[in-house]
Amino acid sequence: MSAMDAEFDTVASWTAEVALSLGPEFYLPAGCRGSGSPATLNWFTEQLDLQAADRMLDCGAGVGGPAEFASRHKGVEGVAPILTDPQAGACRAARLLFGLPTVQSASDLPFRTGSFDVAWSLGVLCTVTDQAHLLAELRRVLTPTGRLGLLVFVAAQPWLPDAPEGNDFPTQEGLRSLLAGAGFDVRTLVSAIDLGANPPSWTARVAAVEAELERRHGDDPRWLEAEQQSDKMGALLASGAVLATAVIAQSHRS
Ligand SMILES: C[S@@+](CC[C@H](N)C(=O)[O-])C[C@H]1O[C@@H](n2cnc3c(N)ncnc32)[C@H](O)[C@@H]1O
Repeated sequence: MSAMDAEFDTVASWTAEVALSLGPEFYLPAGCRGSGSPATLNWFTEQLDLQAADRMLDCGAGVGGPAEFASRHKGVEGVAPILTDPQAGACRAARLLFGLPTVQSASDLPFRTGSFDVAWSLGVLCTVTDQAHLLAELRRVLTPTGRLGLLVFVAAQPWLPDAPEGNDFPTQEGLRSLLAGAGFDVRTLVSAIDLGANPPSWTARVAAVEAELERRHGDDPRWLEAEQQSDKMGALLASGAVLATAVIAQSHRS
């Protein structure tokens, strides 16, 4: 099993089991452990001008917390995102915790051209080898004026020490050129650090989920591998070698 399978399949399933046992107020913080903070997710829903009638795709949705967050966002409660993720454990977790419609799929998106008004893909691009293909697929499934939100971990220097396995961080310039090549105009590109801190109650619930995961699975090699991946990512972010970057882009009119 690869480190990515451990992190995005096995640990996703365990996370859902832990959240179910802790109670409903833990579902959302548990489901957003993959990347999202409330401030970041609020920023995306507002910048994307999400409307209740929008057809929305969450590509690489993980445990499903960000999609559920969007569907509960004030004023757009009717929005019903469709989720994709290549990992069966992630799809199962999103269905178990939130009852959201999930499709197990990687970069070849199983949807007709122009099916969605809005798509987001949070913390996904740098885990994908064929980044240009994933962006082209996102462009294809969006309408000609579709809006795209991306949270991307961007390399701030040419060589990264001890990067987590399976990650390929584009530079900011590389990201802009990938987006242009796929048919997107960048509307906004900002550091996600500046979007705000998590409320203390949220942080406490994430910590409780992590403590319970550690208690149940702390000796399991798959947990240790996933933790090692996340520690490496944490070190790159803390040193500034990698920057969490939030992007809003729009399809070129064709
Ligand atoms: C860091 S997690 C982020 C999960 C979720 N978006 C979040 O913010 O909580 C990255 C996710 O991307 C998924 N992924 C990996 N390769 C993918 C691909 N080719 N297409 C779509 N998703 C992919 C992984 O399975 C994993 O669930």
